[in-house]
Amino acid sequence: MVLSSTDARFKPGDEVICTSYDFGVAHDGGFSQVCRVPADWVVPLPKGLSLFEAMALGTAGYTAGLAVEFLELNGLSPASGKVVVNGATGGVASLAIDMLAAKGYAVTVITGKDNEHAFLKSLGAQEVLARSAIDTGGRPLEKPLWAAAFDSVGGDQLSWLTRTMQQGGLIASFGNAGGIELKTNVLPFILRGVRLIGVDSAATPMPLRRKVWQRLASDLKPRHLTEITTTVTLEDLGAYFTRMLKGGIRGRAVVRLT
Ligand SMILES: NC(=O)c1ccc[n+]([C@@H]2O[C@H](COP(=O)([O-])OP(=O)(O)OC[C@H]3O[C@@H](n4cnc5c(N)ncnc54)[C@H](OP(=O)(O)O)[C@@H]3O)[C@@H](O)[C@H]2O)c1
Repeated sequence: MVLSSTDARFKPGDEVICTSYDFGVAHDGGFSQVCRVPADWVVPLPKGLSLFEAMALGTAGYTAGLAVEFLELNGLSPASGKVVVNGATGGVASLAIDMLAAKGYAVTVITGKDNEHAFLKSLGAQEVLARSAIDTGGRPLEKPLWAAAFDSVGGDQLSWLTRTMQQGGLIASFGNAGGIELKTNVLPFILRGVRLIGVDSAATPMPLRRKVWQRLASDLKPRHLTEITTTVTLEDLGAYFTRMLKGGIRGRAVVRLT
């Protein structure tokens, strides 16, 4: 909510979203109640989203929506074939599962958490694969499985994904939860036309950012945002971070500041 603005585009009382650019990364005050930001970082809250929903989506939902937008611009549709989402219980991935399933995609997910398979199915996953059951070693090209992949993990997992894509497969690479290395080979790219598409939410130009937020309020609005989101207080944060570092959380957390 805008309290005051020296920029004519915004006035007191406007409901707005501010994520990305340097916000929360190169500026202090990530958990403050009041902050001053450049107007060029601010998106008017689209109709169809509450302020709470906007923060439940946050950078994670925006990144998931941007990845869907990029792959659809490259021709992905539900008729293309199976879509795999890796790092499935994470914030970006769980929101991506929900969005993709709602749009009619056949979604397979990969998770390291054996106790969350039912949760992932409740979001719309048709098939849940345990990460421990996947052999990421192997041949330069594996059996083609996926029309598209949404990867929050990187490393050997992303390498395996490049080698298991179908002809013309599209990969959205947005995360490095499992490592920053990527060792693969060129055969998936030159024999199957696989496209590896990077997703950087931080620097999206504003017209595209506004378009994606409009989609997040309409055709990409997750159906299970309540189930995906946990609300925590400032006092809860220490314990929450400890659980997070042990891999014991799922989905999104919204910090209630008051
Ligand atoms: N490109 C961008 O603009 C952008 C924006 C937001 C986030 N990110 C990045 O995207 C990734 C996901 O973000 P997030 O907010 O969804 O994080 P998150 O909520 O912490 O989720 C990460 C998920 O990755 C899986 N994972 C964790 N450690 C792993 C490991 N060692 N090996 C394999 N999988 C592991 C876990 O899911 P399972 O247990 O279900 O496998 C975990 O829930 C992060 O690397 C983050 O930095 C990038």
